[in-house]
Amino acid sequence: MADMTQTIAQLKTEFTGLIGAATDLRGLDDIRVAALGKNGRITGLMKTLGQLDPQIRKETGAALNVLKDEIAALIEKQERALKKQALDEKLATERADITLSVRPERKGHIHPISQTMEELTSIFADMGFTVAEGPDIEDDFHNFTALNFPPGHPAREMHDTFYLPDDPDEKGEAAKKLLRTHTSTVQIRAMRSQKPPIRIIVMGRTYRSDYDMTHTPMFHQIEGLVIDRNTHMGHLKGCLMDFARSYFEVNDLPVRFRPSFFPFTEPSAEMDIGCSREGGGLKIGAGSDWLEILGCGMVHPNVLKNCGLNPDEYQGFAFGMGVERIAMLKYGIPDLRTFFESDVRWLDHYGFDPLNRPNRATGG
Ligand code: DAH
Repeated sequence: MADMTQTIAQLKTEFTGLIGAATDLRGLDDIRVAALGKNGRITGLMKTLGQLDPQIRKETGAALNVLKDEIAALIEKQERALKKQALDEKLATERADITLSVRPERKGHIHPISQTMEELTSIFADMGFTVAEGPDIEDDFHNFTALNFPPGHPAREMHDTFYLPDDPDEKGEAAKKLLRTHTSTVQIRAMRSQKPPIRIIVMGRTYRSDYDMTHTPMFHQIEGLVIDRNTHMGHLKGCLMDFARSYFEVNDLPVRFRPSFFPFTEPSAEMDIGCSREGGGLKIGAGSDWLEILGCGMVHPNVLKNCGLNPDEYQGFAFGMGVERIAMLKYGIPDLRTFFESDVRWLDHYGFDPLNRPNRATGG
């Protein structure tokens, strides 16, 4: 025991000296390992306790524990001192030059698609529409069959639509997966999952195999659907006229409805807005020319039936348009392809200041 007491005292003196002399954190850590690490000297002594007499073991163990705690405390104190010293040195040598001019920073902008979608949401929300969503990966049933597309319809061809491999877990039309070619799919999902009255808009990505100045393989649409007992064509016209006047911010914007065809509406129409193309430019709301902006119609009785609704009880209207197209028209963007090139110069030019974006109170 006397030996041990001496060894402990020696270790204490030795390590106290080493710790006090440590000048950096790494050196200090080496000392900690040498004393208290798995193979450290104090740890080593601890391991010999088992061979001692019970009485001596108790005393020696207690003394070793005290030593261990003392050394650990000394290391911690030295560590704090070294850290403080390092910080003081840093503070003394490093200085921020607050007279330097500000580094030019790139300012982020809201993409015109996001801006336009928010404007659309705000306009239709005021008319009582809620926003519905559906998946980009759809199946043949929701994209075509339920919307009254006959089996051989050209839109169903591989050439226009991006088909995915058949889903082995599903059967029939549900197994035929594709990237939705329009947002009309969500009409079906809404009518099959909720009871009328229904008043929804749907915005999102759509896909077709096309690429030129006015077509990209991925683009965005907004869809609208209203179903109730007495909804009629007059509601359709009033709703879309109000929308166009509000969106283009022209109170007396002329609109006209031209008969058209879509498999899922009857009657179907296309809506044009008045414009002028004089001098090569496009001016919305002036002149005597017309510009098509959307497709619409009364929901076809077959579509209602496909969704479990009785056409003698319910009817309604739907519409669909391209988000890029109406963004291009409102904000004078000439080429659709540039929307998706991720060119920050384009975004600096056509994007919107997040803290000062146009809204319906301030105007465009
Ligand atoms: N789905 C049509 C398209 O992609 C757009 C459309 C037209 C949607 C008429 C409608 C509608 O809901 O009634 O070209």
